[in-house]
Amino acid sequence: MSMEQKLERLAKLRAEAEAGGGPERVQAQHHKGKLTARERLDLLLDEGTFVELDRFVTHRSYDFGLDEQKVLGDGVVTGYGRVNGRLVCVFSQDFTVFGGSLSETHAEKICKVMDLALKSGAPVIGLNDSGGARIQEGVASLGGYAEIFLRNTLASGVVPQISVILGPCAGGAVYSPAITDFVFMVRGTSYMFVTGPSVVKTVTHEDVTFEQLGGADAHAGTSGVAHVVAPSEPECLRAVRALLDYLPSNNLESPPDLPTKDPADRRDQALLAVVPDEPAKPYDMHDVLRSVVDDAVFYEIHGEYAPNIVTGFAHLGGRVVGVVANQPAVLAGVLDIGASLKAARFVRFCDAFNVPIVTFVDVPGFLPGTGQEHGGIIKHGAKLLYAYCEATVPKVTVITRKAYGGAYDVMSSKHIRGDLNLAWPTAEIAVMGPKGAVEILFKREIEASRDAEAATAERLGEYTEKFAHPYIAAGRGYVDDVIDPRDTRPRLIDALEMLRSKRDRNPPKKHGNIPL
Ligand code: HXC
Repeated sequence: MSMEQKLERLAKLRAEAEAGGGPERVQAQHHKGKLTARERLDLLLDEGTFVELDRFVTHRSYDFGLDEQKVLGDGVVTGYGRVNGRLVCVFSQDFTVFGGSLSETHAEKICKVMDLALKSGAPVIGLNDSGGARIQEGVASLGGYAEIFLRNTLASGVVPQISVILGPCAGGAVYSPAITDFVFMVRGTSYMFVTGPSVVKTVTHEDVTFEQLGGADAHAGTSGVAHVVAPSEPECLRAVRALLDYLPSNNLESPPDLPTKDPADRRDQALLAVVPDEPAKPYDMHDVLRSVVDDAVFYEIHGEYAPNIVTGFAHLGGRVVGVVANQPAVLAGVLDIGASLKAARFVRFCDAFNVPIVTFVDVPGFLPGTGQEHGGIIKHGAKLLYAYCEATVPKVTVITRKAYGGAYDVMSSKHIRGDLNLAWPTAEIAVMGPKGAVEILFKREIEASRDAEAATAERLGEYTEKFAHPYIAAGRGYVDDVIDPRDTRPRLIDALEMLRSKRDRNPPKKHGNIPL
């Protein structure tokens, strides 16, 4: 064979691999409003940077006529490329080939790029569109999944792992994403479930649609499995690119700085009016966040899940920070099971990847009641406490209004290694709010008095005067300073600069035992 013929053969095989499951299946994919595995990679990666590996790999199965159906690449496109110039390792499952199902060789390809990512310190991004374990392969495909789960786990905390769900993902195709750091979904075309609606019908007799069982809204709002939801695949992939700008490539690096023209000494007059005079009145913590961070840009994580707490990334003075903020506009910003889980996971991500944590506090306490107690608010709330206690990255806290009870301790207080804790003059730091405190402390006195209302008002005034301010905490050094709200941005940027070289560590151990 001449060189020319050899090159012709190579070109033919490469084109064959690129054709995936063939034009009809590609058309069916497009009909469903979905892109192909390669089109997705084109949108995810910087133009012309994708380097493919293993395009000639085929499966090794014979059962159920599989020996007659070999498709080059075996249903997954793998390799590496760049996002905004930075290296990432990627795999993109091809639903047009056996429904993107995972064979032994398909798994080997994914494992190869995961190993490469770990060695080169690059994030792994998985574009998932898969019916799960390839049924015809039996235990070989289950073994393949387990190999991936192991790598997901070993890579956790070493390189960021992002899962993008872009089709109906079942079985193993959801457990690998569940171990990763961030799960993205597309409204209307992506689904995640352990088993689909037909099996559900057989086992539990429930009639449930794909959307109800495992659609983007179900996972973003109810289960909390999805962190970000987008209205279309291109928007979803753009959101993944944007998230990467906030993340370091691995746990030995810091996230990249983003120089800004937003002045570090900018003071915002509007912050004086954010907290209402009436202590029970809600306000939107997003207004505070947007006012304080660079260019008012906030990348929210888990926006639809447990919205009584806000988590996300931003820049302050060009430096990436993770923000955790109680949200007085939803359930008064109370800490419940969902909020505790959401914030605990976010705090641990930040700590693992050298992202300083800025916490804004306005919290009336933990949510009481049998629903919460029987659901395990004790152990779930403890996760958030544990996560904050364990975190050694710079931790800066701003108390805007209420910091009551156990929630005061939890929300990055000085006692659990908050590095710089600031309070606005509107802060109220106490065991509980004035009304609850007076009802407990002076119950008998008020009952015995001739004018209960007047007696309550008098005691309320006394308690408020004594405790509903930040100066007792400040007098003990539990907050480092009480600041003019307008100075919040400059003071935070200054604190982060001061903490740039912070070093702290926990006692040596195999690993802690976070109350799971
Ligand atoms: C082999 C599969 C497959 C699978 C789909 N296909 N899933 N082939 N193994 N797991 C094939 C179909 O036979 C079909 O081939 C093509 O992919 C497209 O599938 P459709 O069913 O036509 O597509 P759609 O109607 O969109 O439904 C998609 C689906 C459904 C919801 C994913 O296919 C489905 O329910 N699949 C099975 C899901 C599942 O139970 N997987 C096993 C999980 S167990 P043709 O040739 O007809 O086009 C598991 C264990 C891991 O993963 C361990 C976890 C801890």
